[in-house]
Amino acid sequence: MQTVVITGGTDGLGKGLALHYLRQGAHVIAVGSTAEKGQALLAEAKALPTGRADFVRSDLTSVAASQDLAERLAGDHPVVDKLILCAQRYRLFGDRVTTREGFEHSFALAYLSRFVLSHGLHDALRAARRPVIMNVGTPGVPLGRIHWDDLQLTRTYSGAKASLQSFRANDLLGVAFGVLHAGSGVSYIGYNPGVVSTGMPESLPQPLRAATKAFFTMFATSVPKAIAPMTALLDDPPAEPFAAYWQKRRLSLDGRAFDGQDALRLHDLTRELIPR
Ligand SMILES: NC(=O)c1ccc[n+]([C@@H]2O[C@H](COP(=O)([O-])OP(=O)(O)OC[C@H]3O[C@@H](n4cnc5c(N)ncnc54)[C@H](OP(=O)(O)O)[C@@H]3O)[C@@H](O)[C@H]2O)c1
Repeated sequence: MQTVVITGGTDGLGKGLALHYLRQGAHVIAVGSTAEKGQALLAEAKALPTGRADFVRSDLTSVAASQDLAERLAGDHPVVDKLILCAQRYRLFGDRVTTREGFEHSFALAYLSRFVLSHGLHDALRAARRPVIMNVGTPGVPLGRIHWDDLQLTRTYSGAKASLQSFRANDLLGVAFGVLHAGSGVSYIGYNPGVVSTGMPESLPQPLRAATKAFFTMFATSVPKAIAPMTALLDDPPAEPFAAYWQKRRLSLDGRAFDGQDALRLHDLTRELIPR
């Protein structure tokens, strides 16, 4: 039985992937911060004839919680076949928010949790037959940058700037992971699903929430359709340690977004930020 860990596995793309792999007979461990969503997933899983579902409640804005989760998962599951990173909550508007550990919210949730889990589960992943990590974000979108002199955006914060920085940081996380763990057999995929109709608009303020929902109804891909190319890649990952995709299209790794030196620089800075 495959073991598939999915952060953000209780809603949107993550939930779609959770149900897919349960139907394939996998042991799916879905992580989210809301108990109700976790219970709803478990109820749906119960109605399926195959698979085994577990829900782990964890607030991944906390580095300590992400580290505890990685340690607990690695302890309980010596072999993890797939790690899928979907946990996200956009804070595009409003004032800068810091987590209890003092990190800017988007940096902590969308980037640091993925950094901790990717590296923290590496040993359990490399024990699998075809291990893969899929970091779901926006590779290929030429927006945003790393604010090297102020990663926590203390001086010139905006929600959009913070979200975009976290996306670009995840591009570099994949590159660095591929370099640092080359030869371990783990494939790291940065994946852009395009516009998909998920629970994402729920975190937006009105009237943007209603407008985004209306836009999604007209233009967005459904979750079942969006996960088809994702599962194809997850089940047959590329041989290279890191690859990036926008739906089915493989992206060139030339250019600043995937710069190797930037990737290792951010890796080292991140290690310094994280307490243990
Ligand atoms: N949808 C799109 O059009 C689109 C486009 C490009 C990229 N993406 C990327 O695809 C990924 C999945 O997006 P989605 O649209 O499927 O999202 P979604 O429907 O909003 O689901 C987000 C998931 O993250 C979990 N989550 C949020 N905050 C959390 C926290 N503090 N700790 C733990 N879990 C947390 C949520 O569960 P709780 O609410 O219970 O915490 C939920 O399971 C994201 O990385 C997103 O950036 C999406």
